[in-house]
Amino acid sequence: MKRTTENRFILLALALLLGAATCALAEHAICQYEVWLVDQADTSNGTSLIGYGGYVHIFKSYDLSQPAQVVDLGKEASQLCFEKTGANPVRPHMLVFNKARTHAVVSFVASGHVLIIRAEDRTPLACFRTTAGFNGFRQAHAGFPTGDNRYVVVANQNGKKLERLNVDWEKEVFTHDVDATLSLYGNCTTPNGARCEDPAFRPDNAPICTPNLGDPKVAFATLRGGGLFVVDYTKSPMAIVAEYDNTTVGANGCGGVGAGNNMFINSGGGTATNLYNFQVYKFPRYGYSAKNPVNTPRPKVVANDPDGPRDAHGAAVLRDTKGHPKYFWQPDRYSNVIDVYSIDSDRLVHRIDLRASNLSADPTPDLVAVSPIQDHAFITLRGPVPLSGDPHVSTGATPGLGVLVIQAEGRKARLHKVITISNLVNGTNRADPHAIDLRPTNTKCTQVLNTHRRL
Ligand SMILES: *[C@@H]1O[C@H](CO)[C@@H](O)[C@H](O)[C@H]1NC(C)=O
Ligand SMILES: *[C@@H]1O[C@H](CO)[C@@H](O)[C@H](O)[C@H]1NC(C)=O
Ligand SMILES: *[C@@H]1O[C@H](CO)[C@@H](O)[C@H](O)[C@H]1NC(C)=O
Ligand SMILES: *[C@@H]1O[C@H](CO)[C@@H](O)[C@H](O)[C@H]1NC(C)=O
Ligand SMILES: *[C@@H]1O[C@H](CO)[C@@H](O)[C@H](O)[C@H]1NC(C)=O
Repeated sequence: MKRTTENRFILLALALLLGAATCALAEHAICQYEVWLVDQADTSNGTSLIGYGGYVHIFKSYDLSQPAQVVDLGKEASQLCFEKTGANPVRPHMLVFNKARTHAVVSFVASGHVLIIRAEDRTPLACFRTTAGFNGFRQAHAGFPTGDNRYVVVANQNGKKLERLNVDWEKEVFTHDVDATLSLYGNCTTPNGARCEDPAFRPDNAPICTPNLGDPKVAFATLRGGGLFVVDYTKSPMAIVAEYDNTTVGANGCGGVGAGNNMFINSGGGTATNLYNFQVYKFPRYGYSAKNPVNTPRPKVVANDPDGPRDAHGAAVLRDTKGHPKYFWQPDRYSNVIDVYSIDSDRLVHRIDLRASNLSADPTPDLVAVSPIQDHAFITLRGPVPLSGDPHVSTGATPGLGVLVIQAEGRKARLHKVITISNLVNGTNRADPHAIDLRPTNTKCTQVLNTHRRL
């Protein structure tokens, strides 16, 4: 009798083990990835924001119900930055992975720090600080790893310069190459002999974002006051190879994605003096040369809604199952929608209403990342106490991660889940998600599927 019970028990245990093994196998058969979302509010000690730090919330694709890990940037990362620069890093505003997705580049907009984190074990490896500009200010609004894998181009916003880190991702060697700095004010002149910053046509050259290509090796530096520079990021100092004024490119763009033979760039609002702006430009991939006249090659204006209460911010490109770029997504922080444009026709083909699923009264979408197999998209949703962008456009009701289920190869999507995060100070949630990016964690993420799987 006793024996039978034991046998049954063993059988049951075996069945459970087999079940677990099958589940584990199934999990390994599909693409797995992590979503890194950054709360740009300071680290909290419970009763106060401590004045620096912030948090990276890391979600696993197979369980998005809550972050699997929260990295406190107020600890080792701040210690490293303080050790290297004598100052703590403040306001982690952007996080962008390198191409191999082995390292994250975190830009601290308020203090001007750029931090490199090894993704696999979350180790902070290197920390730099941008140099002060003409007015004594420095920032690091965004640092984008370059498509050729050799640099990070940093937009030192209020310092009005582009700065560069030279990197070797494999050997983990990182150098702030100060000789590569390109100042965008003062005696800076363009290849056509114009002043880089000029009150008439490029009135405020604070660089915002630096999306770039690997072929050709150029970065697109959007400017706070409108206009844009395409720069050869391999030269020292980095060199302007195309100059645009504010008649051709609007203000304050941050959202740029290369796709096929194009680079999509937007122009947005979100500042007190320029609350609303909504433009999408399609630049050609090739054709940049210092010998060209100004505003050449000319971008195609895909969307232009300058007067509506709209604020374009962030961007994504969606692909068909063969991997060809098919749709361009332009989130609108103010109107709580994502406008979908056909890349073939340059037409608006759909508007995703983020309020339609009734998960948030005011989602306030900011930056967006698409899963490698394109079953889901992830969007940061701003909080009630926003720390960047004018509060009129950047105040949101549900600080956290918005999970979208992608439909029809990206022509449509619906907001499926909102996972709120918290950063409590005396019981008040001060979390302010802004940056987001993702990285595959197994080798099954090579194919765009376009059939959504259950999360
Ligand atoms: C939080 O509460 C403590 C204790 O009442 C108080 O000392 C502190 O100032 C409060 N913090 C903030 C940010 O109001
Ligand atoms: C929390 O941080 C504030 C501001 O830095 C500081 O004044 C306070 O003493 C800290 N409280 C604790 C419990 O560490
Ligand atoms: C431009 O100004 C900078 C900063 O004042 C100075 O270092 C540089 O030599 C100047 N360049 C030229 C060509 O005058
Ligand atoms: C370009 O900037 C100047 C200076 O701010 C401004 O007067 C002009 O209206 C702007 N042009 C456009 C097309 O926005
Ligand atoms: C959202 O709420 C509106 C108004 O109550 C309702 O008409 C609509 O069906 C709801 N949508 C969903 C997806 O529940």
